[in-house]
Amino acid sequence: MRRPIIAGNWKMNMGVKEAEELIEAIKKIDLNKEVEALVCPPFVDLYRVSELLENTAIKLGAQNMHYEKSGAFTGEVSPNMLKELGVSYVILGHSERRQYFAESDDLINKKLQAALANGLSPILCCGETLEEREAGEEEKKVARQIEKALKDVKEDDFDRIVIAYEPIWAIGTGKTASSDDAEKMSSFIRSLVKDKHGDKAAKSVRIQYGGSVKPSNIKEIMGKDNIDGALVGGASLEAESFSQLVNF
Ligand code: PGA
Repeated sequence: MRRPIIAGNWKMNMGVKEAEELIEAIKKIDLNKEVEALVCPPFVDLYRVSELLENTAIKLGAQNMHYEKSGAFTGEVSPNMLKELGVSYVILGHSERRQYFAESDDLINKKLQAALANGLSPILCCGETLEEREAGEEEKKVARQIEKALKDVKEDDFDRIVIAYEPIWAIGTGKTASSDDAEKMSSFIRSLVKDKHGDKAAKSVRIQYGGSVKPSNIKEIMGKDNIDGALVGGASLEAESFSQLVNF
């Protein structure tokens, strides 16, 4: 059984003050305990949010990290630094990082290996552009991203790995992939994992859909066999809608 996981990706929103307010508001609402709820604030908020989440079931994630432990990497944050703050998940290879910060599949593979080695659970993002979908190349694109990012990952590690399928054209646009298309890609991703990493890996890896998920469409998305959760941007920035997503 794969536990559903709803993750809020705050992106570059919410300074510490706003973060405090949002977390305090979320804490006042009853969240379904069967669902794993996770918030991923900017780095500067992590310390404070970690304190506020103590003794709650809400998990903490980061939006990125470097793969080295320490050293001359100005502006970067290491896996062990995140771990020390009580972070348990890290989003890797988000399309915004690939697009604006030139992150390659090889780099994402290094980060993913480092996350696993440091006891962090990676949320590996993948997804196609509108042009790729219109050309019928969405599976080819996602297959390449997944294969490269998961290179040399062991079968036993897949119960700690989350893969987020986020079609780029659906992110922040209000356009959602149809739940059937999202399910089709999730099932394709699971079969890829099975081919490369074995049956146990395919059964345990959790797959999220991301891209304009909101309270009005979460239920339909979560009703699909191969979709185990959602990675949510805009609709996670408000306590009421975030809790509605967790309580889908
Ligand atoms: P969105 O973002 O929910 O605002 O579309 C999703 C994401 O980029 O993770």
